[in-house]
Amino acid sequence: MKEELKNIFTKNDFSKDDIVCLLSLTDENDIELLREAAYDTATREIGEKVSLRGIVEFSNICTRNCFYCGIRRDSREVVRYVLGKDEIIESAKKAAFSGYGSIVLQSGERRDGEFIEYVVEVIKAIKDKTKNPDLPNGLGITLSIGEQDEKTYRRFFEAGAHRYLLRIETSNKILYSEIHPGDQKFENRLECLKKLRKIGYQVGTGVMIGFPGQRIEDLAADVLFFAENDIDMIGMGPYIVSHSAPLSSKGMMDKESLLELSLKMIAVTRMVLKDVNIASTTALEAISDDGREKGIMFGANVLMPNISPVRVKSDYQLYEGKPGLDEGGEKYNEMLIRKISSAGRRPALNEWGDSKHFKKRIQFL
Ligand code: 5AD
Repeated sequence: MKEELKNIFTKNDFSKDDIVCLLSLTDENDIELLREAAYDTATREIGEKVSLRGIVEFSNICTRNCFYCGIRRDSREVVRYVLGKDEIIESAKKAAFSGYGSIVLQSGERRDGEFIEYVVEVIKAIKDKTKNPDLPNGLGITLSIGEQDEKTYRRFFEAGAHRYLLRIETSNKILYSEIHPGDQKFENRLECLKKLRKIGYQVGTGVMIGFPGQRIEDLAADVLFFAENDIDMIGMGPYIVSHSAPLSSKGMMDKESLLELSLKMIAVTRMVLKDVNIASTTALEAISDDGREKGIMFGANVLMPNISPVRVKSDYQLYEGKPGLDEGGEKYNEMLIRKISSAGRRPALNEWGDSKHFKKRIQFL
């Protein structure tokens, strides 16, 4: 097996069968070989630095009804909130003060005019209020607020957001239709990714790993989907049940196998896509105490500490067992730096941490 694996690792074009082979590894030694190869690829393509993004979950009000999500529109258990503009700016200043360099603004999906104006104002204010000698252009801003029309995406971009995360959730259209209500179309999500790219965003997408009905072949196709769509950033994580969502009736994978599969997905995505940003996501930590460090060890290069105000953190539960109530404080930051160092990496302080892949692709426009 060792020779066969080494043959795959040195390839420039990975076939679907190669990817299935890597994702199906079960032997500890083989998985360690995959991990090493992915870690080396990350070091070679990106360097030693791990970029930090403070994530602010600024509202859990959602107009969508995804069958897997804890803050779906019909969930009656959720106490809904929208953070005040000042609260978001405070969190952003804290991120800048901690040297995070950039933030992610995430919320449930809304498309009404009031929401759009509010987001535009928040983006402008963050840009304005987080400039300092170490960050002359203010914090980098990534948005993660779902499907919007082109005009709206453009307004957010012009206001100062320059990266956007919109997960495709799965590249298998049939599976997509099984986990979303009929008015949420795969084609629309794909169109949104194309619009974002056309406008000039660094485009991020990703999938949920291990949800009911998904096979290894689907995950392999997801990795190829990222490559075919020339994606700049990847955020993916394990599917974890949320008891208030209908998909919970179908259960979930056991945590150990789910962690292993998620880490293999990170490693394989690094091997195939090479120079993209890959986040080690919070959901990894929900299934394993050191899940996010492991993500770094398997080739991820971005960490997103949750810096939402503590009073709302527990109201933004996409899935069960969300960790991180203490994130963003001084003690936490010290620990974070220690963890990054113990993974053989260095935190990228006061840097936006843009995607290398993006930088290369715009040179050829
Ligand atoms: N388990 C894991 N990830 C989830 N998300 C939503 N619900 C769950 C869940 N139950 C992810 C989706 C979405 C992102 C914001 O959170 O992939 O795009």
